[in-house]
This record gives sequence, C-alpha cells and structure tokens, in this order.
Amino acid sequence: MRVVIQQSYELMSKWAAYYLVQHINEHDSQKPFVLGLPTGSTPLGMYRELITLCKAKKVSFKNVITFNMDEYVGLTSEHEQSYHRFMWDNFFSHIDIEPKNVHILNGMAIDLQKECTAYEKAICDAGGIDLFVGGLGADGHIAFNEPGSSLSSRTRIKTLTRDTKKANARFFGGDPEKVPSQALTVGVGTIMDAQEVMILVSGMEKARALKHGIEMGVNHMWTISCIQLHPKAIVVCDEDATNELRVVTVRYFKEIEAPNLRNWDLD
Ligand code: GLP
Repeated sequence: MRVVIQQSYELMSKWAAYYLVQHINEHDSQKPFVLGLPTGSTPLGMYRELITLCKAKKVSFKNVITFNMDEYVGLTSEHEQSYHRFMWDNFFSHIDIEPKNVHILNGMAIDLQKECTAYEKAICDAGGIDLFVGGLGADGHIAFNEPGSSLSSRTRIKTLTRDTKKANARFFGGDPEKVPSQALTVGVGTIMDAQEVMILVSGMEKARALKHGIEMGVNHMWTISCIQLHPKAIVVCDEDATNELRVVTVRYFKEIEAPNLRNWDLD
C-alpha cells in the first residue's frame, strides 16, 4: 500500500487530480479509462482541480467511462441531495464527458436488486474498473459498506447506520430522520476487483478510521481495512487525517513518498 501524506487538503486534492490525469492520458478511444468515483465533501477539491485541468486542455474525459459508488434509495435523480445531482452539479457538467459514459445507480428503480445486478454486469462489460477512487466514513466505511459488511460483498441494497445518517444529516437540513435509510452501493468485493484503488482521507474526524485502515487488522467492522489485501492501493491524505497513526508509520511513508510529493508535471 502507498500512503501519500500532504500538508493540506488543497495539496492532497491536487495530487489526486494529477495522478488521475496521468492515468487518463495513457488511454484513448481504443482503450477507454474506466473510473470509479465517490461523492461526499472530500473529493470536491479533486473535482475542482480536474475541472480546471480539463478547461486548460490538459486532460479530456472523452475516453473515460465512470461508475459511481453509491446512491440513496428513494431519491429521484433531480433531488438536490441525490448523488446524481451531486455528480452533475460538481463535476460532470463542467467537463467534456459523454453522458452515455456516466453510470450511477438508480435508487428509484422498481426492482432494486435487478438494478444492482445490472450495475455489476455493466462494470464487467466495460472491461472492469481501472481505478476506483473512494472517500472514507468516520466509522471506516467505503462507499456505503457500513461496519459489518461482507468483505466479499457485491453491489446491493444497504441499510445505513445511525452514525452515517447523523454524519450525512448536514446535507438534509441537519435532521438525520430526513436522510434516506437505505442506499444502493457497490460492494467491498466490487471495489477490490478494480486494478487500482485510491482512497482520499481528510481531517481529524477521519483519523481513527485511517488508523484502522492502515495499522490494524483486516476486519469487516472497518471496511476500509480491506485495502490491505489489494495489490495496488493508495491512500492520499492530509496531515490532520494522520493524527492517530504511529509516528513511525507516518515517518516511514513520508520518507518513501518524498520524491513523489509533487506530481504536477504533465508534459
Ligand atoms: C458517504 C458516502 C461515502 C463517503 C462518505 C464520507 O457516506 N457514501 O462514499 O466516502 O460519506 O463523506 P465525506 O467525504 O463528506 O466525509
């Protein structure tokens, strides 16, 4: 596992964006880049950087196929807090992606299980995911794989924990009761099948979860810990997120990543 520690949220977002662009630019129409994407506050900085780079013609998303991680059950794609709206408002509307290449689970599907099965098939048909980018919940969840999720789970319906509803209440007028109780989410196994996984982690409130992801054992109560079993996982984080890591861990990763901390050269 690589752990890239940046001084600030802005720098970690920039690092993640440039890393993505370098990958995207290695692909073309013959071999599109298949990208898994998260929602949440954490990836917003990365999305902003990517928009800037796209407008500056340093990257094009014409040959990129995306699959989002999750969506609430029961919200229409027009709903202000749906992950559809989030992705179009904060990212897709500002770049040159082909709408037909965007995939987001439909939380309004009549047959939700069928929707999940079809999503797995669509990922397969696209040739599998090249890079899955994810965020991290304070309780260690990735996508909506709440504590106790099977580490071999696939795309499915998941009931959200009280903690997640509380954490996401900020988007629903502060009321956890307004947060949908269920979501469709890719499984831990779906994420683990990607060629590469990159997890973005920012802030002190994620420090405990990051500790479990990096230093503690693989455990379904902290689904982030599954990345220890992935052959190509990268955590990109800011200093605050490392607050619970051992000094020796932080020192080690800082030392080995020192030559790679500025990856801004695209030429
Ligand atoms: C939600 C999403 C996750 C996201 C997490 C953290 O639960 N389903 O994909 O990683 O929130 O979000 P934030 O980055 O806003 O802290």
